[in-house]
Amino acid sequence: MEFNVQQLERTNLYQLLVGCVLPRPIAWVSTQDVKGVCNLAPFSFFNVMSVTPPLLGFSILKQASERDKDTLANIRLTGELVVNIVSQPLAEAMNITCGSYPADVDEFELAGLAKSQSVTVKPPGVADAPVRLECTLHQCLTFGHGTGAGNLVLAEVRHIYVADQVWKNGAIDDVGLQAIGKLGGDRYSKAEPAFSLARP
Ligand SMILES: Cc1cc2nc3c(=O)[nH]c(=O)nc-3n(C[C@H](O)[C@H](O)[C@H](O)COP(=O)(O)O)c2cc1C
Repeated sequence: MEFNVQQLERTNLYQLLVGCVLPRPIAWVSTQDVKGVCNLAPFSFFNVMSVTPPLLGFSILKQASERDKDTLANIRLTGELVVNIVSQPLAEAMNITCGSYPADVDEFELAGLAKSQSVTVKPPGVADAPVRLECTLHQCLTFGHGTGAGNLVLAEVRHIYVADQVWKNGAIDDVGLQAIGKLGGDRYSKAEPAFSLARP
């Protein structure tokens, strides 16, 4: 198959792109608004962008409504966020938090998730997440206009929590971590079975 992207409908282009680039790691991002209302939502257009400085990047797409997603609005206002890593036992709770809820809804409460106080930023993390990365906003780059336009959030990591049970021999144990990845449609991947390749 060959695709001329200029002739594709936006929805088809979206499905094709997320079907090509996979599995995608998931940033489960917690933020707070200025009144202290907590927000939690997953983003799979996500990865490590730089080590010095330590930057994570994830993209928040513009939705059909004029309103910015709560995560973007909160990050722009407060400059603080926590990226929680989603282990398989948390998958269903994560899925609950992706709904389009009003800004005053606390998705932690909605999904029955306990909060953990952060060390360096105000937004709490997901207490049961095996890894939490506390971050401050470094830069937000905006691409395009209208539905599907991207807002690439570059977030500087200030503090990292790794649960004892996934810390093995001085490194994160990827099997114990049980991180899930996003595929196309409603599908997800598991981290196993993993294999090793020595670099040349
Ligand atoms: C696994 C998963 C990955 C997602 N990845 C993204 C993404 O990368 N960018 C995006 O804009 N929305 C993504 N979404 C949709 C958002 O989570 C959804 O729009 C959510 O309502 C945003 O919440 P907020 O308004 O509280 O920020 C994803 C949803 C799921 C379930």
